[in-house]
Amino acid sequence: MAGAELVELAKRRGFFFGANGAYGGTAGFYTFGPQGAALKRNLEDAWRDRFTLREGNREIEAPTVMPEAVFEASGHLEGFDDMLVECGECGESHRADHLVEDATGIEDAEALPGEEVEELIRDHDVACPSCGSPLAGRDVEDFNLMFATDIGPGDGQPGYLRPETAQGIFVEFPRLKEYARGSLPFGITQIGPAYRNEISPRGGLLRLREFTQAELEQFIDPEADEPPLDRVEDVEVRLYPATAQDEEDGEYLDTTVGEAVAEGIIGSPWVGYYLGVAQEWYERVGVDTDRFRFRQHLAGERAHYAADCWDAESEVDGDWIEIAGFAYRGDYDLSKHDAYGDDSFTVFKRYDEPKTVERATVDPDMSVLGPEFGGDAAAVAEALETLAGRDPDAFEGETVTVEVGEGDERETHEVDADVASFSIETVTESGEHITPHVVEPSFGVGRTVQTLLAHAYETDEVDGEERTYLSLAPEIAPRDAAVFPLVTNDEPLTDLADRVASDLRAAGLAVAYDDSGSIGRRYRRQDEVGTPFCVTVDRDGVEGDGPETVTVRERDSAAQVRVPVADLADELAALRTGGTFDDLIDRYGSVDTDVETTEN
Ligand code: GAP
Repeated sequence: MAGAELVELAKRRGFFFGANGAYGGTAGFYTFGPQGAALKRNLEDAWRDRFTLREGNREIEAPTVMPEAVFEASGHLEGFDDMLVECGECGESHRADHLVEDATGIEDAEALPGEEVEELIRDHDVACPSCGSPLAGRDVEDFNLMFATDIGPGDGQPGYLRPETAQGIFVEFPRLKEYARGSLPFGITQIGPAYRNEISPRGGLLRLREFTQAELEQFIDPEADEPPLDRVEDVEVRLYPATAQDEEDGEYLDTTVGEAVAEGIIGSPWVGYYLGVAQEWYERVGVDTDRFRFRQHLAGERAHYAADCWDAESEVDGDWIEIAGFAYRGDYDLSKHDAYGDDSFTVFKRYDEPKTVERATVDPDMSVLGPEFGGDAAAVAEALETLAGRDPDAFEGETVTVEVGEGDERETHEVDADVASFSIETVTESGEHITPHVVEPSFGVGRTVQTLLAHAYETDEVDGEERTYLSLAPEIAPRDAAVFPLVTNDEPLTDLADRVASDLRAAGLAVAYDDSGSIGRRYRRQDEVGTPFCVTVDRDGVEGDGPETVTVRERDSAAQVRVPVADLADELAALRTGGTFDDLIDRYGSVDTDVETTEN
């Protein structure tokens, strides 16, 4: 199914649609309809179950507006840019790198310098997609993707809508480490909105200006902490390593997580571990593994913070879409916030045994430094201390040279070695402060929703009629079941149908009730939104002395079983959490009814 068709189908069936339609619509913002909101919530719950609860991690919820200083530290203010080219004729703005990729087949134009992209636009006669005018000669500029705002009235304090949920975790690290009692490794997750003022939003949920991320920040001691790789070492993955992408006829590597880590194809065992966990999770929620791969970032493509990075990619409408990123961020984030923020972003790592070490130290005589260096005296004392730790030999002569100040203000000072009072002390240390490294699986929820719809879309024939259905995993489908009274003019039967629906709802299941049109029509309506099980209440179920029964029909196979009403809630709940319809057939036997064609 073409991408535009999928977006149209999503709108028709209540999954998602462009927001603010009554006011002309706002590009890059989508509303999830009743089906989509339920599906998205189920997907987030499944993610929470796997990446938070089963990993023993903790989830937080941080504000979405953050002060400018956070993004100065994180590097987003300086470097979170896309390449923009504006059409001189119609004034529309476009992603210059995307236009070049479309025109040349280059896979990663984002990694090229702006001037080279300008040249490629000129050499390939790239035209404005909106009005067709040539873009040759137009400047390619950096456009920062963050939405700016003011915090408070008046001029207020400059702030930004967070472009990734991750920063809400990093800035709270000083407190979060206390909740973890200062002990590594620990993981913090967050599911919530992120905002990017994308130059050209497109593809339904694929490139939005407001979207949901589900992120895990795994804080580790790189020297000591190992992931539980044995849990996923046999998980089979399809990899597309950077080396294969560079080759003309580079191929996928079908391997296991264990082998890929052992052979160094996946550089970090932690990244390997989470690729394995993610592979199993994607299978669980219904991603078609034949349309799925992990692609390693090329060197020029990596984000400013990432040492190694793999993307989970799904095929949607012939294109590969990045649906998650797995980055080894090293100590980039915490050391930046440590340098810019007021708190400590390190943890104290206790040694097994106390260590006796020699430590270079200074005790500068401020009564001399003060008169000699005036306002620079404290900075000179600090520079002496830093120098002692870094280069004790610098104190061997009669004078010591230090530099203080920044940029143009930077000055060199000579200090008498006696005034510095340099000495080597022997101290016993019980541990040291280290900056944890971060491993980050970062999922786009909307892109996964769109992938699941694309991969679940099926057509077949039932009773001689073509039908379309969404083969969504029961755990993810918007509704768990639908209940139909076979006819509406038979009170005992409609009473039972009402009772069955309300009992299932009381048991926590999401249930639709439909009594209009033929049963066949009702099945089709539910098939189209992916309801995995339909429960039909008919005469046979209320007659006789035996227990009340209903017919349960499975969406994909259209197979049916007759189940006692008393067992129904438990059976449907089991199907939602991994039970199979074959189990049900084994227990109750399949039945063949002609209810699909029965008219109401
Ligand atoms: N904290 C790391 C981070 O934000 P990212 O690769 O920029 O990494 C992670 O984003 C995921 O968020 C992507 O893999 C993608 O699924 C999703 N995402 C990013 N930008 C998006 C956008 N404009 N619209 C929808 N989803 C987006």
